[in-house]
Amino acid sequence: MGKLKIKRRFPNPKEMLQLLRFKPWVFNGRERRLKGAYTIYDLRTIAKRRTPKPPLTTRMALLIKRFLPARARQAFEDIEFQPRILRDVSEVVLTSQVLGKESALPFGIAPTGFTRMMHTEGEIAGCTAAQAAGIPYSLSTMGTRSIEEVATAAPNGRNWFQLYMWKDRERSMALVERAKAAGFEALMLTVDVPVAGDRLRDKHNGMTIPPALTLKTIANALPRPEWWINFLTTDALKFASLDSWNGTVAELLDTMFDPTVDFEDLKWIKEQWGGKVIVKGIQNLEDAKKVASLGVDAIVLSNHGGRQLGSSSSPVPPAP
Ligand SMILES: Cc1cc2nc3c(=O)[nH]c(=O)nc-3n(C[C@H](O)[C@H](O)[C@H](O)COP(=O)(O)O)c2cc1C
Repeated sequence: MGKLKIKRRFPNPKEMLQLLRFKPWVFNGRERRLKGAYTIYDLRTIAKRRTPKPPLTTRMALLIKRFLPARARQAFEDIEFQPRILRDVSEVVLTSQVLGKESALPFGIAPTGFTRMMHTEGEIAGCTAAQAAGIPYSLSTMGTRSIEEVATAAPNGRNWFQLYMWKDRERSMALVERAKAAGFEALMLTVDVPVAGDRLRDKHNGMTIPPALTLKTIANALPRPEWWINFLTTDALKFASLDSWNGTVAELLDTMFDPTVDFEDLKWIKEQWGGKVIVKGIQNLEDAKKVASLGVDAIVLSNHGGRQLGSSSSPVPPAP
């Protein structure tokens, strides 16, 4: 078969002009970056460029490079959807019932410790965004903003307090009382950190709270000035509910957390709180049934993002 002959013409300037669509420049840098972020991975790339290594690797690389990708991330990627066709989908409803109330989306914000280390707005950004979106927000015991600060910033939010039980029960219960007084909707007891996981990257990167200024951290921070400007020009980065600590996170956890907590303690904590209780860190059916029989209101299937026990099962089962 011969080559098809394409009839050509000179480009028409008028038509070309119509094709020109320069996007208006967004002067606000954050807005510009977020506009170009379509997936969680885009956000990760932005964060990587802008956050020094110790906080970032602690938060993400550990999660993304070491344990998760091998199995858990794969399990998420292997999820297949089966779209059904020829149905009226002009109105899609994403609301779902969470703890007996409507949540605008079928998820909430999980608790993360030392959130301001990642970005200076930290917990306040999280709880106000959750309030605006109509989804629950969980404040960690290891948070860098206090229970009261979150309650003030998001007075109409569905705020949950995530509890790590300390050896010092009185201090733990003082936090529970404060959360109650501040009108938090639920208590989320995390049960998968009886002892700290071996956070090797923290050790390699010299990750401490507050961050230590070593030659290594300074060299890594130099190309990311915004983080350091924020760090140095906002109030001190420290745990809101804990005394200052100069060791690694794992050392802190092992010193503070109570490894003896058991089902009897769960009953006791539930009584002390007197409201809705969520147990976070369930990884098998037997434990799920056991806590359900104790009357908890919800469970979070979770392996702590692979941060605790490296080879623990992913919350999403692998594809058959
Ligand atoms: C930086 C970072 C800090 C976290 N801090 C806490 C915490 O203080 N309390 C907690 O219960 N979970 C904490 N988590 C775990 C998350 O709440 C969540 O369980 C995890 O990121 C997602 O894994 P999953 O799907 O296994 O739940 C943290 C996770 C990250 C990445």
